[in-house]
Amino acid sequence: MLFWIILVSSLGFLWFLKKLSCFVRWLFNLLLRPAKDLTSYGSWALVTGSTDGIGRAFAFKLAASGLNLVLVSRNSAKLKTVSAEIQARSPYSKIKLFELDFSGDDVVSRVGEMKEAIDGLDIGVLINNVGVTYPRAMYFHEVEERVWMNLVRVNVEGTTHVTKAVVAGMIGRGRGAILNIGSGASIVVPSHPLYAVYAATKAYIDQLSRSLYVEYKHQGIDVQCQVPLYVSTRMASEVADVERSTVFIPRAERYVEEAVKWIGYESRCTPYWAHSLQWFFASMLPHSLLDSWRLTVAITRIQKSKQNKKN
Ligand SMILES: NC(=O)c1ccc[n+]([C@@H]2O[C@H](COP(=O)([O-])OP(=O)(O)OC[C@H]3O[C@@H](n4cnc5c(N)ncnc54)[C@H](OP(=O)(O)O)[C@@H]3O)[C@@H](O)[C@H]2O)c1
Repeated sequence: MLFWIILVSSLGFLWFLKKLSCFVRWLFNLLLRPAKDLTSYGSWALVTGSTDGIGRAFAFKLAASGLNLVLVSRNSAKLKTVSAEIQARSPYSKIKLFELDFSGDDVVSRVGEMKEAIDGLDIGVLINNVGVTYPRAMYFHEVEERVWMNLVRVNVEGTTHVTKAVVAGMIGRGRGAILNIGSGASIVVPSHPLYAVYAATKAYIDQLSRSLYVEYKHQGIDVQCQVPLYVSTRMASEVADVERSTVFIPRAERYVEEAVKWIGYESRCTPYWAHSLQWFFASMLPHSLLDSWRLTVAITRIQKSKQNKKN
């Protein structure tokens, strides 16, 4: 009997020590670990989906950190506006614009043109931010082919093509940081019902990032998947009725303020502290409970949007 008591207490103590060391490491990373000097990776950063939300906030932050920018997005007028706004705040940053619609049929040739346009630039930081989701919660059988093909093209193919176009230069220079924006939808919760294809594309981003992290670490290239939960942007307002920021749903600028401090470290992280807390509590709950909670939330959203249409 005594043997079993000692065994169980020892295992419990080891479990406690493990959790404590995770907690201390998290606090250290959050509060004390110095951010990397992003200019040490190279003098240029390329940001996809840079005209709104998280990508736009990254563009402002990276310019303020002393980097020149290549901004890639689909809308030329919005690109020019964002560029002018950044230039007003960071007049010494050089900015190049490249109009590219990742959902287009010509994405391969357009990324090829982008590659030529950035040839010779010392691109040290790549932010693969572009991403889209369903216009609303939908069962898989209701999602039109056009919609899910769009998601796969933008979220999966776009990120893969751009990474391929940029990583070759990084290998040549022996340095670089690649940040891929994943989502809690594929990592923090065990399922994301009624947004299945979106969650699946983000699982691809996560696994791609982890493998590339291992492939390129020894060549001086740091690959990372960041896992945001809700951030107050247009996307969040469309899918989750997020109307304003809260402590758990930060503004894009607040998220990015934290996000840049994590670039170049672990292969996967969630940089915003309140998101980490949510992840921690989610990890304590049984998957079946999280599954039914996500399903209920999504079904409620469908009912609410039907009700809104009627009114
Ligand atoms: N917001 C959240 O709660 C949240 C949570 C987890 C993960 N994420 C991820 O974070 C990333 C950014 O999301 P966000 O909330 O900032 O989105 P957002 O506010 O909707 O901004 C998306 C950006 O991507 C651009 N874009 C969209 N479709 C494009 C296309 N076909 N070709 C080129 N550019 C395109 C948009 O350009 P336009 O201005 O022309 O539309 C915009 O600049 C996404 O990968 C998303 O999955 C977001």
